[in-house]
Amino acid sequence: MPYFLTIKKSNMSRVISFISQKGGVGKSTVTTLIANLFFFKHQLSIAIVDADFPQNSISKRREKELRIIKKKKRLEHTYHKIYHDLKPYPIIKTNLESCAEVIRELKIEYDYIFVDVAGSLNQEGIIPFLREVNYFYIPILQDDFSTLSALELYMQLTTKIKPVSEEFRSCKLFFNKVPAKNKMVGIRKNFETNFEFLDDHINAYTIYERVYRSTLFPIPEKAQKPNLKIHRFANSIMHDLETVSSEKSMTMET
Ligand SMILES: Nc1ncnc2c1ncn2[C@@H]1O[C@H](COP(=O)(O)OP(=O)(O)O)[C@@H](O)[C@H]1O
Ligand SMILES: [Mg+2]
Repeated sequence: MPYFLTIKKSNMSRVISFISQKGGVGKSTVTTLIANLFFFKHQLSIAIVDADFPQNSISKRREKELRIIKKKKRLEHTYHKIYHDLKPYPIIKTNLESCAEVIRELKIEYDYIFVDVAGSLNQEGIIPFLREVNYFYIPILQDDFSTLSALELYMQLTTKIKPVSEEFRSCKLFFNKVPAKNKMVGIRKNFETNFEFLDDHINAYTIYERVYRSTLFPIPEKAQKPNLKIHRFANSIMHDLETVSSEKSMTMET
C-alpha cells in the first residue's frame, strides 16, 4: 500500500471550516470525509481541530476506532501496514477560547487545517476563531428551517466577518443529504442570484455514516456511486481552494 509520509509543502496553510449554526446538518461527517480524501488520496498534510464541545464527535470517533483496532487482529494488522511510514493525522480537541491559538500553531506544521465547530455567532469568543478561517463551507439541507439558518450564517459571515478578517477567502453554501433522485439545478437556481454555492452537492448515502467516515482507514476505492460522488465533491472543494487563492494573489499583484 503506497502511503507516504505527508509533509508540509506550502508556506501558506489553508484553514477550512464546514460550519453551521444548527447541529445535524453534516459538519462532522463532511469534515471527516474530505479530510480522509485529502490525506489518503491526495497525500496532503492535514490536521483536524475539534472545537465542537460537547459533541466532539470526530475526536470520539478516533478514540473508538483506536479501541476497536486493539481488539481486532485483522484491523490491527492493516493499521500497521498503513502506518508504517505514516502517522495518523492529528485531531486536536479544544474549546472556542483556545481555538484561534491552536490553529496558528498547527499552521506551522500542516498545509490544511479543518475546524469542526458550531457556528453560532452569538457564542462568546467565536470572533477571534472566525478571523482565522480562510474558507467557510456551509452545509444546507432541503428543509425551510435549516435553509434559513444557513442563509443567515452566510449573511453574517459575509457582512460581519469578511470586512474585519485578513484571512477570509471564500464562503460558500452546499446542499448535503440530497436524496439521490433529486435534480439540484432547479433548487439552487432559487438562491444563486444572492448566494454563492460550491459546484457540487452531497447525496444522502448511509455508507457515509459508516466505513467511509473513518479517521484512520482510507475510503475504499470502488466504482460505486457514493464513492465516485464523494471524490467529485472533494474535487470541487479543491477547485475552490485553488481558484480563490489564485484570484487573491492576482489582486495582491495589481
Ligand atoms: N451525506 C450524508 N449521507 C448520509 N448521512 C449523513 C450525511 N451527512 C450527515 N449524515 C448523518 O447525519 C447525522 C448528522 O451528521 P453530523 O455530521 O453529525 O452533523 P453535525 O456535525 O452538523 O451535527 C449523522 O448521523 C450523520 O451520519
Ligand atoms: Mg458535529
